[in-house]
Amino acid sequence: MRMTDIIEKKRDRIELSDNEIKYFISGVTDKSIPDYQISALLMAILLNGMNKREILTLTLEMAKSGDVLDLSPLSHTVDKHSTGGVGDKTTLIAAPLAAALGCTVAKMSGRGLGFTGGTVDKLESITGYKTSLDIPKFKEIAGKTGMCVVGQSGNFAPADKRLYAIRDVTATVNSIPLIASSIMSKKLAAGAQTIVLDVKYGSGAFMKTPEDAEALAREMVEIGNGAGRNTSALITDMDIPLGFAIGNALEVKEAVSVLSGKGPADLTELCVALAAQMYSCSFKRSESESKAAARAALENGSAFEVLKNAVSAQGGDEKLLTGEHSFAAPHGCKEVLAQNNGYIVHMNSELVGKAAVISGAGRETLNDKIDPSAGIVLNKKYGDYVNAGEPIAIVYGKKEKLDDAADELLNAYSFGDKKPENRPIIYKTVR
Ligand code: URA
Repeated sequence: MRMTDIIEKKRDRIELSDNEIKYFISGVTDKSIPDYQISALLMAILLNGMNKREILTLTLEMAKSGDVLDLSPLSHTVDKHSTGGVGDKTTLIAAPLAAALGCTVAKMSGRGLGFTGGTVDKLESITGYKTSLDIPKFKEIAGKTGMCVVGQSGNFAPADKRLYAIRDVTATVNSIPLIASSIMSKKLAAGAQTIVLDVKYGSGAFMKTPEDAEALAREMVEIGNGAGRNTSALITDMDIPLGFAIGNALEVKEAVSVLSGKGPADLTELCVALAAQMYSCSFKRSESESKAAARAALENGSAFEVLKNAVSAQGGDEKLLTGEHSFAAPHGCKEVLAQNNGYIVHMNSELVGKAAVISGAGRETLNDKIDPSAGIVLNKKYGDYVNAGEPIAIVYGKKEKLDDAADELLNAYSFGDKKPENRPIIYKTVR
């Protein structure tokens, strides 16, 4: 088999055989295929697409290119994946909710990327919490408490790692077959029997429209089901930041407020829906029964108990969650004042995320250290009326960062005279 023939076929819109895809991924993994031939094939895939069989084979080969986690000793294993957003602390809430219903959420999460936050950074704002555990310990905690969330470690889907690095510098990220196979190869390697995807669209997401998000969601759900995993997706709005808090410790506190029944409505609704989906797919229960069960786990405090136990099992100070201890105080803060009267008719969530990064809540360069107490708390969001001079948000962080972060945040708001239409948080479910 020759790589040039494979590139020629895809260039000429001829479908690739399973053996050709296996040859490609094996050469990506063992580095016998050079970057320039990989780039050529990736561009041909971006331009000419792949059919469903090709995408499934590509994903399965990428998933098998490194370690594959065996979670079979655990029951009802469920993973949840978000395509990333601003203020997205849903794992901290949906995972304990699903665990309280009997699911085992053994999950590897990521760090912040660009303007989007990452669950691992949020969890590390809890003093003592270990995001790096060996696999036996990871499984033991998941088995005992119902959930264990750690950072990515080991050698999972190395073919994706190499392909992603090449895509990043060859303008080949933006292809549904390549995005879907990249995400799903890692999910399949992570071993859970049920996978629930939160595919986001809007100004704070990778996909800008609900239609594009749905196309990506359908592809990923087909891959997951094709690989024998129960897979479903919620397509959700990320045009507005989720909840009011953006930044690591701030988001942990907001997650606790949701689990105590006092959280923001949009975040609560989404987390109940995600947990219900996790339970419904794993236990084959109806959506309405699952939603009622998820809501009950929130209201009776059982999900909060799961989170406290899991945090404590991973070395974290659970008293930070109960309020008996306090998170480190922020270095400083600044109120951000509205400059216009009117309704907030649009929020550019990407700019909100960038303002949080500037405050110190994310990384501007690879080696930056995160300030766990930095970030933003919004007072006013999309649809609210504000008067000029009224505080619409508070920025927390080191004093020298506050002005720049506040300026960037102001750019995110647009004002108008008419109250804008409500935006539903959930656009569609794909099963
Ligand atoms: N996230 C991934 O893991 N892969 C992509 O291709 C895009 C987003």
